[in-house]
Amino acid sequence: MQLFHGGVQVAGFLGETFYLDNSIPLAPSYLQDGFFGHQAKKIEEEEIEMILDAFVKAAKVAVDEAGYDGVEIHAAHGYIISQFLSPLINYDRNDKWGGPSLENRTRFFLECAKRIKEAVGDRAAVAARFTYDECLGPLGITPEEAIEIVKIVDRYIDFWDVDIGVYETIDDMIASSSRHPDGWQAFKNLEWIKKCKEAGIKTPFGTPGRIVSPDLAVKLRKEGLDMVGLVRPSISDPHWARKVREGRVDEIRECIGCNTCVSYLFKKHSQMLCIQNPVVGEEYLGYSPEAEYPKVKEPKRILLVGGGPCGLEFARVAGARGHEVHIHDKMPELGGNTLCSFKNYSEKKLDSSSRMEGENNKEEVSKRKDLHKLRNGCQENCRIRCRCCRVCHGCCMG
Ligand SMILES: Cc1cc2nc3c(=O)[nH]c(=O)nc-3n(C[C@H](O)[C@H](O)[C@H](O)COP(=O)(O)O)c2cc1C
Ligand code: SF4
Repeated sequence: MQLFHGGVQVAGFLGETFYLDNSIPLAPSYLQDGFFGHQAKKIEEEEIEMILDAFVKAAKVAVDEAGYDGVEIHAAHGYIISQFLSPLINYDRNDKWGGPSLENRTRFFLECAKRIKEAVGDRAAVAARFTYDECLGPLGITPEEAIEIVKIVDRYIDFWDVDIGVYETIDDMIASSSRHPDGWQAFKNLEWIKKCKEAGIKTPFGTPGRIVSPDLAVKLRKEGLDMVGLVRPSISDPHWARKVREGRVDEIRECIGCNTCVSYLFKKHSQMLCIQNPVVGEEYLGYSPEAEYPKVKEPKRILLVGGGPCGLEFARVAGARGHEVHIHDKMPELGGNTLCSFKNYSEKKLDSSSRMEGENNKEEVSKRKDLHKLRNGCQENCRIRCRCCRVCHGCCMG
């Protein structure tokens, strides 16, 4: 169970709707947050104690009431602990909680880890999610300084879950495939982890970072990573680990690093979305990307215009239900906007009754009078809109 306080970022992070009591966000210094734009109040001693108490209470609830085997202190990504550690944010204090001294800037993290460890004892593991490099150069937390921070706090930590970046450098923090190759973030993190190990830290380390395939995971383990983390790969395929265990690697819905999931995090009242997994966030309704579909009594011959992610998912499901789907797309390959890697999964999974056909031009499509026609966005007033792009794809077939 991860324990989090956002500091100045908490209001913006939750879509600007989280001012439960109209309180002002807190941060180690008076500042305006660089990403969400909120003004923070400089946190006072009694507020620091109040937040530390809240961390401890939350840890006890997680372990003693909810039964978790471990808690993870969120000391990453520019939230409150990371704000105390960062010289960029914790810049105008001259008490024991801040200022230029690394020891003072680390005190909040140290106290938090120490008090939580004392509170949960050996009933649960205490992990730390830790940004060792804010990717802001010498202005922020640097990899060199971060090793010293680890040395100070390590005696209270059972597992380090490390990462890079803050919201201002989000394309490092949640690396997209448009800028970085698969595994880039994890291999970069591993280089720093090796330096911690050389500095004598014995606690195990883990990291995520676009570890999309089992091969990458194995390579990282062989090179010295104690545990691999799969965040987006588990969003795009919650059955990732089971498929690897069962030797069904080809069936993994591989995360393509498009970051649609990330961009929807910042939209008001939005729910989790994923290009590769159309039912993400709706598992509680009984949906599963692995669902088996009952065959229809009266199969139709369907002409689907547009072989982008939504069209292909439609074709996959309709094919599995027994319909005969013909796909027209103006591009020579399937995948639409996600062409770069989408075919990785979807093309393989298309039922044999779904096939790709020629050019998507009005003349050719209009000739196919024999087929039930579906076209992206065909019905403006349709209630059943795609959860990815909010456009009607004709899923109701009527
Ligand atoms: C939709 C989404 C939500 C996230 N929420 C959290 C979070 O609550 N806590 C956290 O430590 N990291 C969070 N992250 C960051 C991930 O933990 C991870 O560091 C990052 O996605 C890179 O790993 P990956 O390539 O395996 O996704 C989130 C990432 C995504 C995509
Ligand atoms: S939307 Fe899905 S495929 Fe795209 S980055 Fe997020 S998890 Fe990966």
